[in-house]
Amino acid sequence: HGSSQINEKGHLEIGGVDTIELTNKYGTPLFVYDVALIRERAEQFQQAFKDEEVSYQVAYASKAFSCIAMFQLAHELGLSLDVVSGGELYTAIQAGVPMERIHFHGNNKSIAELEMAVKANIGCVVVDNFYELKQLGRICAERDVKMDVLLRITPGVEAHTHDYISTGQEDSKFGFDLESGQVDQAIQLSLLDPHINLLGIHSHIGSQIFETSGFVMAVEKIFEYIEKWRDSLGFIPTVLNLGGGFGIRYIEGDTPLPVGDYVAKMVQVIKEKATLHQMAIPEIWIEPGRSLVGDAGTTLYSIGSRKEIPNVRHYLSVDGGMSDNLRPALYQAEYEGLLANRATEEAKETFSIAGKCCESGDMLIWDLPLPKAEHEDVLAVFCTGAYGYSMANNYNRIPRPPVVFVEKGESQLVIERESYEDLVRLDLPLKHVLKQ
Ligand code: LLP
Repeated sequence: HGSSQINEKGHLEIGGVDTIELTNKYGTPLFVYDVALIRERAEQFQQAFKDEEVSYQVAYASKAFSCIAMFQLAHELGLSLDVVSGGELYTAIQAGVPMERIHFHGNNKSIAELEMAVKANIGCVVVDNFYELKQLGRICAERDVKMDVLLRITPGVEAHTHDYISTGQEDSKFGFDLESGQVDQAIQLSLLDPHINLLGIHSHIGSQIFETSGFVMAVEKIFEYIEKWRDSLGFIPTVLNLGGGFGIRYIEGDTPLPVGDYVAKMVQVIKEKATLHQMAIPEIWIEPGRSLVGDAGTTLYSIGSRKEIPNVRHYLSVDGGMSDNLRPALYQAEYEGLLANRATEEAKETFSIAGKCCESGDMLIWDLPLPKAEHEDVLAVFCTGAYGYSMANNYNRIPRPPVVFVEKGESQLVIERESYEDLVRLDLPLKHVLKQ
């Protein structure tokens, strides 16, 4: 994975840093991000667009992993930012990234969030529904400003992925329905609103996608309507945003394409269709999350207790679990791992890795081949960079782990470990104790 390798001590090394030195310094559980790999991915996406000589924006879907340092890194890499809440927007403001590179998503942005976005003068709002369109128009009118907008549509394309995380099918909570004329109506309303500047169309078909066919179908679907929009409404999209969803390799059976291949195919079909319909090639935007940060992240855990059920299973428990990685419990997501302090030793048996939460479903990996693991060995679980920390929680009042960035032999703490004090910070004592 990325710049990880095994050093002469037999330890897993990431970004030139010995992971055991990291656990000694920062404790466990610990998220480690290989910054070089994030840089490489960002460059691959951008290079693919440059090769095709089209105008583009690559926006980092920050829901995959958001914190101030990550936002600053994304900006340094020339990425725009897709945010989906006031909290992510606030983080972007705190990170000091330019507001014109922020795209604001979400199916139920509150009035306060829309006001925050307008006040911050962000780059564009991806409008999801009629209510939002109306509220945004009103908020902009009050301030006498004009907001750039994309309309999110559901193209009726379902990506081949896990049910829970596909959002492009027709029966979805996201976006304007294409087939029933909702998009036409939303375009019309946007064009009539003097405070809305309609840039184009947005479509996101799902997540952890391994093929280009879904993106091709979405583009074809959109172009079926483009002629109609042009002729009846006088609207030609100048921006086409095809969302994110590019897959990564979590386990051996996963077969993602190189990120540039998704882009090349997308652009090629858009060029073809634009030529066919005699229109200018729109600016193409994408929003990768997982494929930028997913396999850059590794979680390091300490192994604690074990339980052997003779002839059945050998459980090893780690000091984290569904509190720092909800994906196995939520999606039956699978991961690979190894003993970071004994990385060269041969795997002799299989172990099932349990989290420490009070819940039978808190299992991180089933049947992982490992050398005979001992108490205090360090387990590295790979590909936890996306939707790991960002979906971490305080179930059982377990503090969230810290996050370090590593690159060229250096480590830098970017999120501190949550403390017990942090956990009770918002708690207020009971005021009235009933007298007996
Ligand atoms: N754009 C939009 C509009 C999205 O809804 C999403 C993800 C993305 C971009 C980024 O998708 P990515 O490139 O990361 O696949 N928690 C789930 C994934 C939920 C994805 C939600 N939307 C998981 O852990 O697999």
